[in-house]
Amino acid sequence: MNAPAGLPDLSHLWMPFTANKQFKANPRLLASAKGMYYTSADGRQILDGTAGLWCVNAGHCREEITQAIARQAGEMDYAPGFQLGHPLAFEAATAVASMMPAGLDRIFFTNSGSESVDTALKIALAYHRMRGDAQRTRLIGRERGYHGVGFGGISVGGISTNRKTFSGALLPAVDHLPHTHNLEHNAFKKGQPEWGAHLADELERLVALHDPSTIAAVIVEPMAGSTGVLIPPRGYLERLREITSRHGILLIFDEVITAFGRLGKGTASEYFGVTPDLITLAKGVSNAAVPAGAVAVRREVHDAIVNSAQGGIEFFHGYTYSAHPLAAAAVLATLDIYKREQLFERATRLAPAFEAAAHALRDAPHVVDIRNIGLVAGIELKSRDGAPGARAAEVFHKCFDSGLLVRYTGDILAVSPPLIIDEAQIGELFDRIGKILKETA
Ligand SMILES: Cc1ncc(COP(=O)(O)O)c(C=O)c1O
Repeated sequence: MNAPAGLPDLSHLWMPFTANKQFKANPRLLASAKGMYYTSADGRQILDGTAGLWCVNAGHCREEITQAIARQAGEMDYAPGFQLGHPLAFEAATAVASMMPAGLDRIFFTNSGSESVDTALKIALAYHRMRGDAQRTRLIGRERGYHGVGFGGISVGGISTNRKTFSGALLPAVDHLPHTHNLEHNAFKKGQPEWGAHLADELERLVALHDPSTIAAVIVEPMAGSTGVLIPPRGYLERLREITSRHGILLIFDEVITAFGRLGKGTASEYFGVTPDLITLAKGVSNAAVPAGAVAVRREVHDAIVNSAQGGIEFFHGYTYSAHPLAAAAVLATLDIYKREQLFERATRLAPAFEAAAHALRDAPHVVDIRNIGLVAGIELKSRDGAPGARAAEVFHKCFDSGLLVRYTGDILAVSPPLIIDEAQIGELFDRIGKILKETA
């Protein structure tokens, strides 16, 4: 394929989660970024309404982070993490632990959310085996859950498009809770909906069906982002915690997008006041400046594995790049910014203005629901007959072409800006979506 004038050859790159042919026929390229804005390859400023992919919580190209990475790259580019360590890795683990709920202070580093999920699932299996409960191998996820793209993650995940191609090769012992999304009961609710806590009781049904002695862990996103901003009904997470504790089942919260301030706290666990046994992390942990992820593990779970091994390696798992020096440097600089600039408190302070601006679109064309929590909003549109997703895709493209980055999944628009956004930018963001909805058939 010949490159269009001024563009590189687009043919070799197989793009992830992208309609490749469509993209390459009409490429939209980003060239640089600073603060709240991207600059497109054709020189336009694009307001970042989605913190990249829910990850650039402190805004783009923060000098403290880029300098920390550059310094580290010059000092020690790489250090093996198996049977060797480097000081920054330990410091980064301490810094991450300081932002986790009390008790979840053992940190395993990965490079992505998908790796964090598979790591957490393996820790759960190892925990039960080490305690003599090796028959606890069943994993329970939830419909509409997104837990990345590893075989573990898609098995416990609940998005059929991500599963069906690989359906013959998914993990065998998996079941799913129902999702909690319900427009009939919860449309246009601000914050946590009142209806739906009883859906957690479905876990009791699965426990009765499979017997608790076969179940290792339940994994859910406390707030599901990628499948359209699904906010947990009041009392729902509490019930999941109560049922899992009662049956000796580990509870994993996938906080790849909710941790590090999205809801105005270090974690959604802290925000909702429900503490799981493991938390998966990525994205905001390094402000996405270097790929990084982690699993925060309850100390007893860690100890059960590490203390019961008879010498040698306790957990046969890890990545060449776990706690990579550049990632560790980025994590430390990022978490320092969050604390110093009190960005989580800022998110809490901005949340009411964000909520008001989002819900001002209630009467805009096509809108069937608006939901929000912290600095996240989902705007659900009525699907076009016979073309689900087409309307939101058109809005996404028009937004981008007019200088605003949003996300869409199906016919749901998601907005999740960097936490450094100001009130004027919040107004601009939702006003622009409103204008584009009016221009969209
Ligand atoms: C809840 C959740 N888990 C896991 C992942 C996968 O993360 P990654 O794309 O870094 O592998 C994502 C990505 O959006 C996510 O939202």
